[in-house]
Amino acid sequence: MALSLPKYVPARKSQLNFYRAVPLYYQNQSKDFMLYKPAGLKLTEMRIEQERYPEKLYMKRIDKLRGIREVQKEFNLQLKIDIQSNNAINVKNTLVNIVQETFSEPRSGSIEGIIETVKLLVSDFAKESEVIKNLFRVSNKDYTTVLHSINVMALAIGYAHHENFSTAEKKVIGLCALLHDVGKTKVNSGILKAPRKLTDDEFEEMKAHTIYGYEILVKCNLFNHEIKLAALQHHEKLDGSGYPKKVTDISRMAQIVGLIDCYEALTNDDRPYRDPMAPLRALTLLKDDVVSGKFSRRIFEKFAYSLI
Ligand SMILES: [Fe+2]
Ligand SMILES: [Fe+2]
Repeated sequence: MALSLPKYVPARKSQLNFYRAVPLYYQNQSKDFMLYKPAGLKLTEMRIEQERYPEKLYMKRIDKLRGIREVQKEFNLQLKIDIQSNNAINVKNTLVNIVQETFSEPRSGSIEGIIETVKLLVSDFAKESEVIKNLFRVSNKDYTTVLHSINVMALAIGYAHHENFSTAEKKVIGLCALLHDVGKTKVNSGILKAPRKLTDDEFEEMKAHTIYGYEILVKCNLFNHEIKLAALQHHEKLDGSGYPKKVTDISRMAQIVGLIDCYEALTNDDRPYRDPMAPLRALTLLKDDVVSGKFSRRIFEKFAYSLI
């Protein structure tokens, strides 16, 4: 017998005030779901005091996507304020919320919401480049795919700025970077978090995040093919030693994201099983990969200069 998914899913407490179109429900003592907040009203507008909220509120599973869109919209408004107030910590926290919400159900209808997020970062970059550059340096305790993706995006937008990309290209590379590991949402979290060397089977599953990501993005309404290719090819190497297909003809965006991806993974300070590497040491290591033909020398050099 096929497992049926629950009809109601919990609504995150910190986001309850964001829902207007989505009705919210509570569970009564006999475990029936009862309407708590109708569509068209926000909780705050119902003027109910915080303490009187039921302990847990739910939404219908069929409303989940609509809920994600409402949350993304509110957080994007918040992000604009955070960028303008020049506070890298707030910008990063808001970004974490947006990407977490999006990656909770990464599919057509939710992924598109972060196009606006990247647009905000790119269009304000010229004015607020320090805040966005500093995003990478703001450390968060719990290192996850979400944080890694945000860091890679911040570095990639910095790269694009340094190389004088057009605004449209900056938007594309920002999305390539933010979404490059979206396929990891389909990989068993035990494998993702394993603080040890993976078994061969586990490593094969891990490698499949490239294909999972490509498949997720193919179904989405994205404007640029490069974004899908970056998810598929960011672990490929120019000498054919990468995965999943060992191709040597790698899209430019995938090459840039691939190099920055390695740099970020080497230098982040939040992995429990090893110390972070100093930037210069990480660049020296990547330089070896340039010499052995894995990465493009031109991209490597541009990236190194973009860090200054
Ligand atoms: Fe990856
Ligand atoms: Fe990555």
